[in-house]
Amino acid sequence: MRATAIAQPNIALIKYWGKRDVVRNLPAVGSISITLSELQTQMSVDLDTDLPGDVLLVNGGEEPRFLPRISACLNDLLGEQRSFARISSHSNFPMAAGLASSASAFSALTMAAAGAADLSLSTRELARIAGRASGSAARSLYGGFVELKNDGDSIELESLMDAESWPLQVVLAITDTGRKETGSTEAMEISRKTSPFYDDWIVRQATDLDAARTAIEQRDFAGLAAIAEHNCLKMHSIMWASRPPIVYWKAATMRCLQTVRRLQGEGRSVFFTIDAGPQVKAVCLPEDTEVVREALSTTPGVKQVMTSGLGAGARLVKKT
Ligand code: PMV
Repeated sequence: MRATAIAQPNIALIKYWGKRDVVRNLPAVGSISITLSELQTQMSVDLDTDLPGDVLLVNGGEEPRFLPRISACLNDLLGEQRSFARISSHSNFPMAAGLASSASAFSALTMAAAGAADLSLSTRELARIAGRASGSAARSLYGGFVELKNDGDSIELESLMDAESWPLQVVLAITDTGRKETGSTEAMEISRKTSPFYDDWIVRQATDLDAARTAIEQRDFAGLAAIAEHNCLKMHSIMWASRPPIVYWKAATMRCLQTVRRLQGEGRSVFFTIDAGPQVKAVCLPEDTEVVREALSTTPGVKQVMTSGLGAGARLVKKT
């Protein structure tokens, strides 16, 4: 009746932005991500309780704010007749700041809750349930390079390559640890309804996915860098052109981009990507990690730098 799972966030190289179906939380486009190794969320779910309602502890303190989405995800997995749960989550990185904390949280939650309830669901089924809570969470059930396909009436996931086959490194530059003003669901809907570039984004995504898949298959770093930066800047252009505009960047975000451009000019194998927040994720080859880390940590406005390799998908670590 009690289980603990660990999951890591994933970083999209080809982004998911926009929903085809808000109620079922189906993405409007496919996406490709890498699952990290060093940033982790550990989630315990205890279903053996006499509680009058679900209780959520985040890093030891009660967090009723996140509870509605967590409870809805548990209902989706276990049915509404389930007993109430004590859920305890620990993460070693800041939440709700564009570091994909919801991806590691909901992928770990579905795995832990299925373990606590003794359900034998496949990774694919768990991914679909996690994806209904947070679109990007479906990808964290898998390790390494992951594609979320958006064909048909539901999502399909495919592991493109494992983490060991191309051990890229990611340097995460934290420029702001505050919570973001506009959550991704609301921001995606604003983009869909108002951005003049939105329809074009949907049409062009297949080409970007093809280019990234080919670059990954061939371990072509320059090819992956070019398509990932293009896709990231295209997603942010849609946001900037929305009404009201959605601008997640801080001044330090731009400075990090300039740092990455300088390093590229010096021959380093590195590229940037940015999600729904102000943090910059620099993806690089292992031999350039230290130089990238040093350059980003001394970029004005950067508060903290974290480094991670690529890792495995969500897994159950304890069941009692
Ligand atoms: O899963 P959500 O609702 O947090 O949306 C994530 C969207 C991006 O991080 C901006 C892109 C992506 O594919 O992860």
